Amino acid sequence: MAPANDPPTAAAAAEARAVLAAHLAALSTWGIRRIARGASAPATGARLPAPAPAPAPAASAPERLPRETIVEQLAACAAEVAACTLCGLATTRTRTVFGTGNPQARLMFVGEAPGRDEDLAGEPFVGRAGQLLDKIVAAMGLTREEVYIANIVKCRPPENREPAPGEVGCCTPYLKRQIRAIRPEMIVALGRPAACFLLGRSASLRSLRGVFHEFEGIPVAVTYHPAYLLRTPEDKKLTWQDMQRVMERLGLPLPR
Ligand code: URA
Ligand code: URA
Repeated sequence: MAPANDPPTAAAAAEARAVLAAHLAALSTWGIRRIARGASAPATGARLPAPAPAPAPAASAPERLPRETIVEQLAACAAEVAACTLCGLATTRTRTVFGTGNPQARLMFVGEAPGRDEDLAGEPFVGRAGQLLDKIVAAMGLTREEVYIANIVKCRPPENREPAPGEVGCCTPYLKRQIRAIRPEMIVALGRPAACFLLGRSASLRSLRGVFHEFEGIPVAVTYHPAYLLRTPEDKKLTWQDMQRVMERLGLPLPR
């Protein structure tokens, strides 16, 4: 993201318009049919919406590591993951799926485990659930490149079964290293397994939504997994509510 204090340039204005257009297009993801007055895409030459308010001085905003340090730490961790044989999933995987995105992301999404498409691609959330996650990210006015996306487990469980506790135990030190390197300002846990790992307790997804939790001082929001939303589209509006709370806390502009 451009530093907030840069003077606007024609390119930045065009980019802002493109982001807003994608943002509005993505709102259809939520089944939002009517958009409140003032939120429609600006006509050519119209004033751009006011810039986002500066993020609230988050008491918990962690001190960032230098970008090169983060990149180095992530690369070292990714190399270990690529060679990992700590659990049985190593024998059935095609590729490991480490994580992707901005090493300096403010926002990190944590899912469960790779599925078939991810196992083949070596990248998280590239299948149908990933396409929905992309729409969720776009509706927040962000791009996949601006955020960071990872899973609690880096190899595909056969038949996409839920990862076993032993597999989660073997694998999550890698996720912890990713989080400690990136130090995002906020983590969104996608679905119950990710939420329960990050919060260190077992609870229903429903009971974990709606409040901010914490992982090592970083606020954690819990929402439905995109694969669940594909099966239960009527709950997409609940995830949009969750993401609006996240946007508000990060000081991202909310659609009006
Ligand atoms: N589901 C997940 O939890 N993670 C992925 O990467 C893909 C699907
Ligand atoms: N239960 C889950 O485990 N995940 C969801 O996303 C919804 C219900």
